[in-house]
Amino acid sequence: MIRLAIVTVSDKASRGERDDAGGPAIRETLESSGVAFTEVDYRIVPDQEQLIGEALFHLSERTDVDLILTTGGTGLAPRDVTPQITLRSIDYEVPGIAEAMRAASLEVTPMGMLSRGVAGVRKRTLIINLPGNPKAVRESLAAISAALPHAVDTLRGEVGEHSRPN
Ligand code: MTE
Repeated sequence: MIRLAIVTVSDKASRGERDDAGGPAIRETLESSGVAFTEVDYRIVPDQEQLIGEALFHLSERTDVDLILTTGGTGLAPRDVTPQITLRSIDYEVPGIAEAMRAASLEVTPMGMLSRGVAGVRKRTLIINLPGNPKAVRESLAAISAALPHAVDTLRGEVGEHSRPN
């Protein structure tokens, strides 16, 4: 069971001017992918480096959060800062996760190359940036969901050196 925190990064959603569409898309995609998860935190933060950084810090300090999925702020606009603050927050990158998401997205649309999302580990928590658009969330997350349980088990130390799922 993956203990999941969702962080929606959106100025408008944080001010209540728009419903968060990314968070619900994350839940739906994990459910339809058959990933066993329990949501332990959900927060909406504006596109501000300090507030995003604080959310990532506090959630990854907790011992009951295995996975942080952010949604939004991965594009090219000046206010899109989620990837750079994530890179500053993590101990090490897991580039294959972002590679898989962009590869899958590019099968659907050339716009897939415009998400700058990154993935990495802080302490024992895996942090992954997803785009903000719900369709983009579904397309990106569906491509990596099968690997998430093993990734989390490994970080929890529940997987031996030689154990490998199919
Ligand atoms: N990925 C997929 N799979 N499908 C999409 O439609 N849209 C792209 C990209 N990734 C898209 C996608 C677009 S148009 C943008 S601007 C970026 O994600 C960044 O989105 P964000 O700023 O909401 O995070």
